[in-house]
Amino acid sequence: PMAYENIIYETEGNVAVIRFNRPKALNAVNLDVVKDMQKALDEVEADPSIRVLILTGEGGKAFVAGADISLMVNLSPLQLRDFSVALHDLGFRMEALPIPVIACVNGFALGGGTEIAMACDFIYASEDSKFGQPEINLGIIPGAGGTQRLPRLVGKGMAKELCMTGAIISAQEAKEIGLVNKVFPADKLWEETLKTAKIMASKGRFSLMAAKRCIDRGFNLELRAACGLETDQFALCMASPDGREGMSAFLEKRKPEFKGGLS
Ligand code: CAA
Repeated sequence: PMAYENIIYETEGNVAVIRFNRPKALNAVNLDVVKDMQKALDEVEADPSIRVLILTGEGGKAFVAGADISLMVNLSPLQLRDFSVALHDLGFRMEALPIPVIACVNGFALGGGTEIAMACDFIYASEDSKFGQPEINLGIIPGAGGTQRLPRLVGKGMAKELCMTGAIISAQEAKEIGLVNKVFPADKLWEETLKTAKIMASKGRFSLMAAKRCIDRGFNLELRAACGLETDQFALCMASPDGREGMSAFLEKRKPEFKGGLS
């Protein structure tokens, strides 16, 4: 793996890990972080052995405390627009990855932090982590998907309350509203995240991608069209050796050995 200034990119077997690494600024995201992230995602995409990606924060206090306010304060409206586009591109790129992406939130995930976490496939969080869209306190609104991904996850009313009050909520509250999948004690978060990552990494690569695509793309479609998408992906699973292997293994009463690839 390459060396980066603002993130740490590592691999642990077939799991890749990106750690936001600007601890002095609570991992606030600026354009350099976005550039580093894009390069790390190039590495992930170029390595077919990588089956799952985990995003987390360095420094013990924050996942990401938001977009970097000291950067944004100096931007013109058009430059701020470009920054928002760059952040959205990052989110869409993570959604477009063929592998699952887990947000392992170990501290503050505010503003852009909650938004980056929401662009992952799901969120695991430590008990002491915090979520929210506090942009309203700065006289602005979320610019990395908060007004769009949040209502899709937690409903319009709750999303409006969070975006309009700027309230910071606990991991437990975030779980209750459906923003976070699971909450763990801080010292257990990493091993539990890795455990789930390894479970997914052991599955067929094509079927993981198909599940991700169907859920993400189908979510905003009319139900009949969305189910058509599922039918196509379901059928396509049989074009991957993993589909045949999984069913044969079941019938032969043995563990499947998924190798990935398309036939
Ligand atoms: N941007 C730039 N710097 C940040 C930052 C951010 N989002 N969040 C924290 N920092 C910096 C602080 O300025 C401080 O720097 P100095 O040591 O140089 O003063 C350092 O990180 C440590 O932060 P605090 O001293 O404030 O730590 P704390 O424990 O007292 O408070 C906190 C923690 C509640 C997270 C507080 O830092 C905070 O409120 N941060 C801002 C959160 C925020 O508003 N995020 C939304 C940003 S806007 C956005 O994200 C737009 C978008 O949607 C794209």
